[in-house]
Amino acid sequence: MRFGVTVKYYIKTFGCQMNVYDSKRIADMLQNMGYQSVDAPADADLILFNTCHIREKAAEKLFSDLGRMEIIKNERKERGLETIIGVAGCVVQAENEQIATRAPYVNFATGPLTYHRIPEILARIARQKDICVIDTDFPAESKFDFLPENKSVGGCSYLAIQEGCNNFCTYCIVPYTRGVETSRPVDDILQEAKNLVATNTLEINLLGQNVNSYHGEGSDGKEKNLAYLLNKLSEIEGLKRIRYTTSYPADMSDELIACHKNLKKLMPYLHLPLQSGSDKILKAMNRRHTSGQYLEIVEKLKDANPEIGLSSDFIVGFPGETDEDFNATMEMVKKVNYIQAFSFKYSRRAGTPAAVYEHQVEEKIKQQRLKILQDDLFSRQLNFNKECVGKIMPVLFESKGKKTGEIFGRTPYMQTLVAKGGADDINKIKNVIITFGGMNALAGTIKEEA
Ligand code: SAH
Ligand code: SF4
Ligand code: F3S
Repeated sequence: MRFGVTVKYYIKTFGCQMNVYDSKRIADMLQNMGYQSVDAPADADLILFNTCHIREKAAEKLFSDLGRMEIIKNERKERGLETIIGVAGCVVQAENEQIATRAPYVNFATGPLTYHRIPEILARIARQKDICVIDTDFPAESKFDFLPENKSVGGCSYLAIQEGCNNFCTYCIVPYTRGVETSRPVDDILQEAKNLVATNTLEINLLGQNVNSYHGEGSDGKEKNLAYLLNKLSEIEGLKRIRYTTSYPADMSDELIACHKNLKKLMPYLHLPLQSGSDKILKAMNRRHTSGQYLEIVEKLKDANPEIGLSSDFIVGFPGETDEDFNATMEMVKKVNYIQAFSFKYSRRAGTPAAVYEHQVEEKIKQQRLKILQDDLFSRQLNFNKECVGKIMPVLFESKGKKTGEIFGRTPYMQTLVAKGGADDINKIKNVIITFGGMNALAGTIKEEA
């Protein structure tokens, strides 16, 4: 890197909210080093991809995107500019050798647990040119102890309270890429939340792969659960909204469900992935619950807060899934009546148990089942959005809209909402009358400050 010139960086993020959070924390580190963010990779001295390995397509796309970065690196070289290309995230942890062989122009690769070492890695690269540093340790230290203060960039902020997962669902790569489940201490989380609120955060979304099994250390040295943490966070003045994601159904304790009744700041929306409605498939997936137990949890949640809306993830075409199993999934969708959900075709991940199961489902059948499921889910989402018309909802406005004079926000149910408004309305919560409910967004008119 050149002395006396501000180093510019570009980060592209793939995958889940954990990766969005990680990218933000990496950006915080780079900014502390005096680096400046740019929107186009061609303008960047440092190009960083934060990657996802959850499905095969995600990983393949990375290599084609990286190929385009090589072209940019070569073009910049012709202009006399040096470019460092880095890869972070889950692909690195799972396939660091592939990165070194398929993309030899990459200068460094770091896993999801070691990105706090990026400043050190960049210093090494500056000293010894043309080396490729690969850091995929599962380190003894916690990255959170080395990151700079997390400051708000808007009214909504993510806060990772846990890392890794011990569930080992038989289709899933995450326990191998993010390691065993560890929970951050309560006081560290409360401090990070207070810092966020002091810098204008109104809503915090607590993150973890299995966030409801949170078991961090309290100030008395004893283990605390998510319900305890939610109660503590609720006491923070200035914090208006709290969410947590993603929850594992078998870990929805009664104490946590009660928070949905008692804590007014907790939003009436919960992402509670079911994956499949068939007990046979749930067992083969190593999910620790049946469809009946899931329905009992849903009932309890609805008793605690009748306004609650649920969302889910589904996988179709898991090995051994028959028409009957798939129909059981459709039945569950009907019974729970999700307001929104994500659905995916099963993707074989090397190293996971299900990748070598017999009776892998044909692509054509996966495709057909996905279409049937998504049509149903989308029509439920549209119905819910239409039912919102005429209601007044508190909306947290986050950004300018595509057209001038328009702004975007989110309702308590995470729906995107468009309204007429200006810069003064952004990062504020306003009561809005809903005037339109479409498939992907609502429209409304701002009434007043909520
Ligand atoms: N920890 C979260 C989800 C992590 S991954 C949870 O357990 O809910 C997000 C979603 O990707 C999963 O819920 C699952 O639906 C999907 N997914 C994970 N592995 C997959 C695979 N091999 N094929 C298809 N979808 C997968
Ligand atoms: Fe993957 Fe299952 Fe853990 Fe979610 S709970 S991250 S699906 S192993
Ligand atoms: Fe992807 Fe890693 Fe998240 S595999 S879904 S980025 S935990």
